[in-house]
Amino acid sequence: MPSSRESQSDPRSQAARKTEQRASQSLPGPAFSSHRPRRLRRTAGIRRMVRETQLTVEHLIYPLFVEEGISEARPIDSMPGVSRLSPAIAAEKAAHAHELGIPSVLLFGIPEHKDARGSESFAADGVVQQAVRSIKERVPEIVVITDVCLCEYSDHGHCGVLNRDREPHPNASLPNDYLLNDETLAVLQQIALSHAGAGAEIVAPSGMIDGMVGAIRSTLDQHGFTECSIMSYAIKYASAFYGPFREAADGAPRFGDRRTHQMDPGNAREAVREAELDRREGADFLMVKPALAYLDVLYRIKTEIPELPLVAYNVSGEFSMLRAAGDAGYLDAAAAQWEVLTAIRRAGADLIITYAAPEIAEMLLTHG
Ligand code: PBG
Repeated sequence: MPSSRESQSDPRSQAARKTEQRASQSLPGPAFSSHRPRRLRRTAGIRRMVRETQLTVEHLIYPLFVEEGISEARPIDSMPGVSRLSPAIAAEKAAHAHELGIPSVLLFGIPEHKDARGSESFAADGVVQQAVRSIKERVPEIVVITDVCLCEYSDHGHCGVLNRDREPHPNASLPNDYLLNDETLAVLQQIALSHAGAGAEIVAPSGMIDGMVGAIRSTLDQHGFTECSIMSYAIKYASAFYGPFREAADGAPRFGDRRTHQMDPGNAREAVREAELDRREGADFLMVKPALAYLDVLYRIKTEIPELPLVAYNVSGEFSMLRAAGDAGYLDAAAAQWEVLTAIRRAGADLIITYAAPEIAEMLLTHG
């Protein structure tokens, strides 16, 4: 800080003080009128020209739930407007999404039979494998992404093989319900292979198992699926915002929780480490999930690892809370949803997985 004597004798600071005085006393002075940010907000046309963040249909990924053994869509109570579909209905939905310009769908499967090792997840005629084929037959242009995880397929609802089911016997140094890492990798490899074999262009491992990207990459390559991409759920938090999804996909853990593999909500530096590991293992896309409560993490990952496409998952809880507030008349759910997606893009996401994809695509078609 210069002393008051110095600043009084400095002609530049005197001039600056005068300008300040003018601005505050005799409006409008030149300093004030040369700074009117409102000029750029005056009309819809100008606002459109200077909007820094674009949300377009290209940015949307539409998740679909396919259930085995059903022939009609089954509405999901916890997610207003979302249903479980048969593979044939999923193909219709994908065709509709394609007509709206949505480039991609993400598939989750709900099998008829579950077991300890989730073996339906890699069955050649499993429900997701059937859905991939039906969608590819109906709309070959749409990009099909598949969720690679065990939680919807295992009878205990966990994302992998538990210590109690370890063969030939449990690892005595770990609790019985501990989710085993390397045993799970072997199953994830089988799932990814069967999805790629059915025609998925992108597989998306979501279990937060260490080494999942490298393990899947090497199996895919060995079997000739060198062009199948991996969208890694690199940064997935142990979040209460998955609540509605667990009903939707029938994937709630029957006991315990997912805190030994999903990330702690308090951590952001660790997110960079997770992303860096997945990049090195060969991930083609990185994902942050959930999105809305983790915008700082999206920003950080985009800044630290800008070269990979960054995906944000606007998860079930984020979707359903807006719908519920809209249904109660508290706010305009569609406008709030648009605002949320724009904020997620502004934070750094290139792509956004959202259950509202068709509604938002229609909104963008009509309002631009
Ligand atoms: C796990 C998986 C989950 C979600 C996507 N993949 C649930 C979980 O980890 O418990 C949540 C998606 C959402 O809430 O929309 N396969």
